[in-house]
Amino acid sequence: MSAPTRLLAICGSLRKASYNRSALHAIAELAAPDYDVEVRLLHDIPMYDHDFVDEHGDPEAVQRYKAAIAAADGIIIATPEYSHSISGVLKNALDWLHGKPSVLARKPVAILSVSSSVLGGSRAQYDLRKVLQPSEAYVLGMPEMMIGGARRKFDERGVLTDEAARTELAAFIAAFGDWMRLVRQPAAV
Ligand SMILES: Cc1cc2nc3c(=O)[nH]c(=O)nc-3n(C[C@H](O)[C@H](O)[C@H](O)COP(=O)(O)O)c2cc1C
Repeated sequence: MSAPTRLLAICGSLRKASYNRSALHAIAELAAPDYDVEVRLLHDIPMYDHDFVDEHGDPEAVQRYKAAIAAADGIIIATPEYSHSISGVLKNALDWLHGKPSVLARKPVAILSVSSSVLGGSRAQYDLRKVLQPSEAYVLGMPEMMIGGARRKFDERGVLTDEAARTELAAFIAAFGDWMRLVRQPAAV
């Protein structure tokens, strides 16, 4: 039996009852046993400070965060939509990954957003694609995964109860699996 594929699922919301966090836990449940999904919160990531980095290098929490990304076969990023864009918390966490090469370079990445509004955070997703572009990550294009109207789709414990959303998430995981296999193929000579 082959080892499960390791996915690091980064949550762009710090909220305890975050719908994005709950969606990542739903992914972990739906993706098992083929995928081993670790949900990574960002509470320990400090604000990026270029002077600090020049003087001391990466703080320990950032070193652990980068090591977890490097060790993962694929990355899933869930973002809330704040003021029509991604959360500041997530932008800051991605700024720490900037550099040549970025730890995200050639890493398969899938993105999703969850929002209480009907649009499901779609505007934030386009900004997230733009922010990821300099990292040279291999970002899954389709299907786009948005969960709108989140209040009706998760129960009070944060369990995704909406069957249509669960089916969509399962298809999203399958598409990301195909994407990871595709980008891991050796280049044709
Ligand atoms: C500062 C702030 C700005 C927000 N801006 C938007 C927005 O532009 N569009 C939207 O759909 N929802 C917006 N929301 C609602 C959030 O998307 C919603 O609260 C969502 O549940 C947050 O994600 P979370 O549940 O993972 O924390 C905003 C919420 C906050 C706190």
